[in-house]
Amino acid sequence: MARTKLAAGNWKMNKTPAEAAALMKELAQKAGNAANDVLVCPPFVCLDAVLEAAKGTKIMVGAQNMYFEDKGAFTGEVAPGMLREMGVTHVIIGHSERREYFGETDETVNKKVLKAIEYGLCPVICCGETLAQRQDGITIEWIRMQIKKAMKDVTADQAKALVIAYEPIWAIGTGMTATNEQANEVCAAIRVLIVELYGADVANEIRILYGGSVNAGNSKDLFACSDIDGGLVGGASLKADDFTVIANS
Ligand code: 13P
Repeated sequence: MARTKLAAGNWKMNKTPAEAAALMKELAQKAGNAANDVLVCPPFVCLDAVLEAAKGTKIMVGAQNMYFEDKGAFTGEVAPGMLREMGVTHVIIGHSERREYFGETDETVNKKVLKAIEYGLCPVICCGETLAQRQDGITIEWIRMQIKKAMKDVTADQAKALVIAYEPIWAIGTGMTATNEQANEVCAAIRVLIVELYGADVANEIRILYGGSVNAGNSKDLFACSDIDGGLVGGASLKADDFTVIANS
């Protein structure tokens, strides 16, 4: 069974609610029935406006983070049930920016993954190596460790529906896209790990994205690689025309 490609936009900390609604309206027109599955992940405060503007299109809406408790005294955090009730379907978990600036660890990533699944949200689990780790030749080992920890206690049935995003940190926002070979090599290694952990059926279904300076010019070749099932896109997802090209790649 062929895996449907997924073009996922991570808007990061960009767009006010009004700006986000405007971008979503433009995307709805241009990419509303794109060839690939399409997901956009705006900031929390824009979710309502974006969900409204996405109605009637195939574009799915995700969050960029969530907390791993159901509710309670956790000032400033957002619970999975809140997202679910709004109509959010996906949640990015463990982005390298959250790991670097906000103390996200492999342990909190795993807690969030399990909690998201419990609430019927599809986790988009991020992993990626630094430039130093790549130069030291430990990329695959590092990525395998990150994914093993992130997916601890996730069952095979649950794993099938997950999305994994391989985003080399040195390629994020730098314009230094990994080569098709570099990106595919790591995505293929992740699939091998999924075979080891869950068997070939799960590995054939799970979607593994590449992220890091994906743009309208390189998405087609990247998405054509054997083990790359789409992209997690930052900067280029903020431009409707560029993201539409990516959504059709
Ligand atoms: P850029 O596409 O801007 O490099 O960002 C990638 C990313 O971090 C997506 O989550």
